[in-house]
Amino acid sequence: MRIGLITGGGDCAGLNAAIRAVVKHAHGSYGHSVTGFRNGWRGVAEGDVRPLARDDIRGVLALGGTLLGTARFHPHSEPGGMDAVLATLEAERIDAMICVGGDGTLHAASVVAEHGVNVIGIPKTIDNDVEGTDASIGFETAVHVATEAIDRLHTTAESHNRVMVVEVMGRHAGWIAVQAGIAGGAEIVLAPEAPFDMDRVVRTLKHRHRAHASFSIVVVAEGAVPAEGTSLDFETRLGPHGEIIAGSTGERVAAAIAERTGFETRVTVLGHVQRGGTPLPGDRILASRFGYAAVEALAEGRSAVMTALRGDRVELVPLSEVAGRLKRVPDELIAVASALA
Ligand code: F6P
Repeated sequence: MRIGLITGGGDCAGLNAAIRAVVKHAHGSYGHSVTGFRNGWRGVAEGDVRPLARDDIRGVLALGGTLLGTARFHPHSEPGGMDAVLATLEAERIDAMICVGGDGTLHAASVVAEHGVNVIGIPKTIDNDVEGTDASIGFETAVHVATEAIDRLHTTAESHNRVMVVEVMGRHAGWIAVQAGIAGGAEIVLAPEAPFDMDRVVRTLKHRHRAHASFSIVVVAEGAVPAEGTSLDFETRLGPHGEIIAGSTGERVAAAIAERTGFETRVTVLGHVQRGGTPLPGDRILASRFGYAAVEALAEGRSAVMTALRGDRVELVPLSEVAGRLKRVPDELIAVASALA
């Protein structure tokens, strides 16, 4: 069998571990060949091939990033994109694709599967918002990075009697904010799942600082939003690709806190630090299990499914149940974060 392999969407820690697992298990256990494509679905559309032999994956288990490169490219929404993908798969005589990606890449995978291609998905995203799986590759490492940052900010906040606002990633779901907020003992956690009221944030901080403390840690997910009928002053400036280059949510929250409390306030936007670097053991193990399970799924003749962690077990879930859906932080976790604040 000839297996095609891509990593798509935002990178994260653990992608190389997944590539390694697919190549090792496919070659070693079944004698399959693996053809990588550079830069996600874009590389498939452009026929940008990167053959993957056993030698190519030596020493990559602990490396961050992805040796295949990645891009946000969805063939079904690009003119001629789907035809180009199908033409490459035929030219390269690919029997099945394994796609490591987040919601966008997996959605594209399910559309490609509808065109008769055998496709297996593997979930990865630091945002942890892929539906159907308890965990995605990259999340654990990102939470670790964010927690470590909060721990470090704690000591400097206390020394200077400051409010420290730390913005973490999470456009549509606040998994990193809530988990790192709990692990780091943040005073306030703002996540997209629970729109916030700036008046309340200000009241809470003032009360805390009057009562006993002279410092506070506020964790803000980049996608946190003010509650209906309330607003955050201060503007956001977008770059040429619609990306935020100034005035991110954390910066705006920090500006509002400084102005309305008079407390000395600083902001740290963690950004892509959360995506880079060495994967924690948990992400290496998850990536290895998913890579193994994807190859096994092909051996069983399965297609249009995604590897998923369900409790302690790796299972297969239909891509159609995953695509276009978002796994949001449950109320219970939000409640823990706010009760312990
Ligand atoms: O989707 C993962 C993610 O890390 C988001 O949390 C973040 O908003 C986005 O990627 C940033 O993407 P880019 O790499 O395009 O800056």
